[in-house]
Amino acid sequence: MRKTALITGVAGQDGSYLSELLISKGYDVHGIVRRNSVPENQDSRIKGMGITTHYGDLLDPYSLTRILQEVNPDEVYNLGAQSHVRISFDVPSFTIQTNALGVLNLLEAVRQFNPKIKVYQASSSEMFGNTVDEDGYQRKTTPMNPTSPYGCAKVMGYNLMRHYRAAYGMHCCNGILFNHESPRRGSNFVTNKIVKGAVEIHKGLRNELALGNLDASRDWGHSKDYVRAMHMLLNNEEPSDWVVATGESRTIRQMCETTFAHLDMDYREYVTVDPQYFRPQELDFLRGDSSEIREKLGWKPEYTFESMVEEMVDHWSELV
Ligand code: GDD
Repeated sequence: MRKTALITGVAGQDGSYLSELLISKGYDVHGIVRRNSVPENQDSRIKGMGITTHYGDLLDPYSLTRILQEVNPDEVYNLGAQSHVRISFDVPSFTIQTNALGVLNLLEAVRQFNPKIKVYQASSSEMFGNTVDEDGYQRKTTPMNPTSPYGCAKVMGYNLMRHYRAAYGMHCCNGILFNHESPRRGSNFVTNKIVKGAVEIHKGLRNELALGNLDASRDWGHSKDYVRAMHMLLNNEEPSDWVVATGESRTIRQMCETTFAHLDMDYREYVTVDPQYFRPQELDFLRGDSSEIREKLGWKPEYTFESMVEEMVDHWSELV
């Protein structure tokens, strides 16, 4: 029988790639979108895909209950969030409500409607903060010491998922995803900001690119590979928590070097540092150990760091 999926945050980078994947697998895909004064800004990534959208909000439990009743999904993917770490310092209360209380609202709505529905939660490597195991990796046993309101809220969401799994026997799964990028990434996240800026400089539209901390290091994969992992791990018989990562870490400086080199430029001539992009507390280093999902579920990324950057540069070169 045809499966039905409901995705919160459907209009975002991951929501759009996940929708494409599920549609290709024959799913009926429904998504929750929040009211926006310019709807065109919201459906640009998902237009014409064949998704049914519903107005709702993770902070409005009535809307969640109504949508669950209307859609009657087999699987729910909670990708909705205030997803920008830097901005979470500016809107901490909103971030905590959406990213933590929102998970509770969704879990309660699912539990009361049909506790057999499988639930995926977009958990994050930001939960680890500055803890790194002795071997230089983070894994699901690594202590969580979040360094941002965003990270604190994600830890709460993560724990709620584990609690609902243990207390009510629900099929709740956390994907602890390390950073994942693509041409569909918002241009205020560092990778797309760098690529867009470099392409604009290359085309003579600007002279410099102002960034924040160039020495932070991230484990960057491609969103398309990571949404595949979401579907795989949610459909494993035993509900559990999984790390999804490439196992490679690069600094922002290295990201600049690769991107500008792609366009035959030297980043040092154009990149400046502006303290307005610093965070009150920084997460210095991320590198994930994803051996469990690779060994048990056979997941592995198809993109390399270089092929991902190339795709993003090509995208912006066409667009700018
Ligand atoms: N956004 C941004 N803008 N970041 C900058 C800049 C800048 O101008 N300059 C340096 N950085 C540094 C940040 O300080 C951070 O260390 C790193 O670049 C990555 O920043 P983001 O791309 O904004 O991502 P993030 O790591 O904070 O968060 C992303 O990954 C998390 C998983 O670890 C987001 O996608 C989160 O939603 C996700 O959970």
